Amino acid sequence: MIDAVVEETIRLYPPVVAAARTVRAATEVAGVALKPGDRVALNFAASGRDPEACNEPGKFDPRRGQIVHTTFGVGPHRCLGEHLARLEIKVTVEEFLRRIPEFQLAPGTKPAYESGQLRTMKNLQLRW
Ligand code: HEM
Repeated sequence: MIDAVVEETIRLYPPVVAAARTVRAATEVAGVALKPGDRVALNFAASGRDPEACNEPGKFDPRRGQIVHTTFGVGPHRCLGEHLARLEIKVTVEEFLRRIPEFQLAPGTKPAYESGQLRTMKNLQLRW
């Protein structure tokens, strides 16, 4: 199931939260008027949790079947390294599980993240 686990992980926990763009032509998005020169943030992370595209989006479920997300962006600037990124995550998980097959969160702790344009893990305490 490792490929599905990788895909579900990057859907639920995207490290790139948003990318910036400059509006080039006047337009309207969801009732908001945008004019040339305006700056917008494309929230790639949020669309992976869109309840219209994903059933129970907050749940980690690698068995959900089709896993849809925009973690690697969309359009002409879509991530050039997405296949390498998937492979790196897969090898990391495989090697971790080979060496540490049984582990759990340290009692009384929970994972902590810091988020802005990028999302990073600030604290993760495991016990094995
Ligand atoms: C989990 C890891 C990664 C994530 C979540 C990620 C995510 C993204 C996202 C969201 C974009 C689009 C940015 C935009 O639209 O402005 C992007 C672009 C890009 N990524 Fe990644 N990336 C990852 C790993 C990598 C790796 C490993 C490489 C190269 C070895 C890479 C190379 C690039 C390049 C060159 C672009 C720019 C493409 C362009 O503008 O045409 N990325 N990435």
